[in-house]
Amino acid sequence: MTTVNSEKLSSARFAEATDAFVEEFTASVNFDQRMAQQDIQGSLAHAAMLCKIGILTEQELADIRNGLAQISGEITRGEFVWSVKQEDVHMNIEARLTDLIGIAGKKLHTGRSRNDQVATDIRLYLRDEIGNILGQLQRLQLALLDKAEQEADTIMPGFTHLQVAQPVTFGHHLMAWFEMLSRDRERFLDCAKRLNVMPLGAAALAGTSYPLDRFMTAELLGFSRPSNNSLDSVSDRDFAIEFAAAGSVLMMHLSRFSEELVLWASAQFDFIDIPDAFCTGSSIMPQKKNPDVPELVRGKSGRVAGHLISLLMLMKSQPLAYNKDNQEDKEPLFDTADTLVNCLRAFADMMPHVKAKRENMYQSAKRGFATATDLADYLVRKGMAFRDAHEVVGQAVRLGLNSGRDLSELTLAELQGFSAAIGADVFDILSLEGSVAARSLIGGTAPETVRKAICEARHQITG
Ligand code: ARG
Repeated sequence: MTTVNSEKLSSARFAEATDAFVEEFTASVNFDQRMAQQDIQGSLAHAAMLCKIGILTEQELADIRNGLAQISGEITRGEFVWSVKQEDVHMNIEARLTDLIGIAGKKLHTGRSRNDQVATDIRLYLRDEIGNILGQLQRLQLALLDKAEQEADTIMPGFTHLQVAQPVTFGHHLMAWFEMLSRDRERFLDCAKRLNVMPLGAAALAGTSYPLDRFMTAELLGFSRPSNNSLDSVSDRDFAIEFAAAGSVLMMHLSRFSEELVLWASAQFDFIDIPDAFCTGSSIMPQKKNPDVPELVRGKSGRVAGHLISLLMLMKSQPLAYNKDNQEDKEPLFDTADTLVNCLRAFADMMPHVKAKRENMYQSAKRGFATATDLADYLVRKGMAFRDAHEVVGQAVRLGLNSGRDLSELTLAELQGFSAAIGADVFDILSLEGSVAARSLIGGTAPETVRKAICEARHQITG
């Protein structure tokens, strides 16, 4: 037997009370209470505007302000009693306000519906979260810049197909990550622009007959303007999808950094040391030190991409205007925001302490014939066609492989055996240092170019 509830708000139309399970099933208060402060912020602006247009008296506005201040304090202190009988955050706060101040509390909802109210609350909420995300993102970018500066001269193998390709500097590699994050930053800033439009005044779906000053409310809430179309305003969740899409790309990037850190921390690469504070041991194998933070971040990229798909599917085929489906937008958004802030924070905390094992990186670049392209380019400069040069270098690499030596360790006579064009100056370009220094064009891996890039990047994110 299910029990029934007899205190339904807006219940006059109903002859029967809501089924107790349905009440629980349709309620959102257990999760949307997270937007309580934004809900209060929206109500304060709406009330100030209602007073200005003469719908509330100064006294009623003062009562509403006092009541909402008290409620805000109760929520912050954890004293507020949330009830599923009041379904969601909006009705819980409104019911408490009416308990506290009486009739003025009942007037607050004039010219407003929960449909435009909830659309406003989520926008305010995500705007705050974008601020948090951008803050952590900047911390991580600054950590990468500092690390790149320290490692501007550090030579490591650059990979394609995870095979040693050409030498690069570790600073350059770190700056590649920085670039990815710069695009993420732009994506969130762009998302914030479209998000920052105010739905209040759309009411349930058609607008309202009260002469609301929507510009005033928008200004009070820091929105750039009121929304254009009431039907669209209560149903649009594009901004939520864009937020999750920007988050998914960011997490994809973090998963790529993670993968490299995990590989580099392995005994097989042994390029870096991740400090103990960011690793754990194994319960059975005493020798283990596992790179848990990057592994977990890599794993968490999946849930954020999942939230993006959830939101896309949530909106697919929905007719205008508001539908209860939209209540399902909150949990994916909240979890996306939490995951992004936490993953960025973990990375920003960890990166300054990741230590490059410079000698290992250097030796690894040497073992992989990373300067083979430099030798081919050298021969081209001496007048050989590139395809022929490619062939000559292939023969030299084979000799190196067979005799266990790097190209720079072959003798001049041996090299000249493959091409008479080779002179003693070849050793300048066969060295790893010569190879990276030669790539000094804009965007290249030369230490001096990397240092310039760092300088400009620092300007870009702090200036
Ligand atoms: N809890 C609802 C949500 O999250 C609020 C809007 C409900 N509106 C309605 N007419 N049932 O979307």
